[in-house]
Amino acid sequence: MHRERIARLQQALKGERLACALIVPGPNLFYLTGLRMRMSERITMFVVPAAGEPFFIAPRLEAEKIREYTGVKDVFDYVDEAGPVGAAERALAGLHVRGGRVGAEYRYMRLLERDLVERAAAPLGFRDIGGHIAEMRMVKDAEELVAMQRAAEIVDIGAAAAKAAIAPGVTEREVAAAVERAMLAAGAEAIPFNTILTGPNGALPHGLTGDRPIREGDLVICDIGAEYKGYVADITRTYPCGIPEPKLVEIYRVVYEAQKNCREKARAGMSGAQIDALARAVIARAGYGEYFIHRTGHGLGLEVHEEPYIVQTNTRPLSAGMTFTIEPGVYLPGIGGVRIEDDVVLTPDGCRVLTQSPRELEE
Ligand code: CO
Ligand code: CO
Repeated sequence: MHRERIARLQQALKGERLACALIVPGPNLFYLTGLRMRMSERITMFVVPAAGEPFFIAPRLEAEKIREYTGVKDVFDYVDEAGPVGAAERALAGLHVRGGRVGAEYRYMRLLERDLVERAAAPLGFRDIGGHIAEMRMVKDAEELVAMQRAAEIVDIGAAAAKAAIAPGVTEREVAAAVERAMLAAGAEAIPFNTILTGPNGALPHGLTGDRPIREGDLVICDIGAEYKGYVADITRTYPCGIPEPKLVEIYRVVYEAQKNCREKARAGMSGAQIDALARAVIARAGYGEYFIHRTGHGLGLEVHEEPYIVQTNTRPLSAGMTFTIEPGVYLPGIGGVRIEDDVVLTPDGCRVLTQSPRELEE
């Protein structure tokens, strides 16, 4: 259990006059307790009261594991035959939840859990506390950065494997398989995505890996993720097969310069919008502004997409210790696309780049 993080959450609960926070299995549960657990049909809930000791409502078969992994003593457990309502009633009895307001994660809590809380304690209303935890998660501590650095090293290994696998006749799926094998061997705990797009397929930023064989002259976009100790790295490299046509070489140079400019000039104190502009201005100046059809980056950590977003609408200044991607791209419909993506951590005077795979267009 991370006492300091829980204390900060409790401060936020008091500020909003919420009786407690109800946390379900997922990234916030891991962030607060160190417990990695998946949602299942059996409800597990971590309850953080505005004051006092947190506790769990959980199936009996999970109770021992929860105590051992989190150090939380109170687990109100239930067996399948009885169901969770009785346990939830006992758990919430002392919290003055009835007629009061509770905090919940709107992005993760299911109606299943909400129904349980309403049956057991009839709260007056729910408020989203996701923003408070997202706020805390944005700035990484030293231990989190060690995990993210290792995840970044693993996706670098994945990118190298993709590059080595690219040859005329090899399919997207075959390249993806080589990437996956290399990253699992390097210690990836999970591979949340692994997208290989060749030739004209590369013009679709969120295309799906398929069976198209690589042809001489293709650019191959490799967007690769890996998870290590719960933390995710996210890299994109665009590799050529042979010599691409001049138009593709030109957009590669533009994206390369845009990404480099952003990597070299981003620093704490800038807003997401200002960092976005570092990449977007270079692409616009080259005349490809209308082909850069997504934001420059997204926060990264326990989830592949989290705050802060590096987007024109995010005018808030960012702080040292925040981690996000820098991934401008240019996509020419029917022809192909280029994206270069790195993971960075903001420092007071710049940013430290976690992913290190070479970025130059090699032939
Ligand atoms: Co990516
Ligand atoms: Co990304």
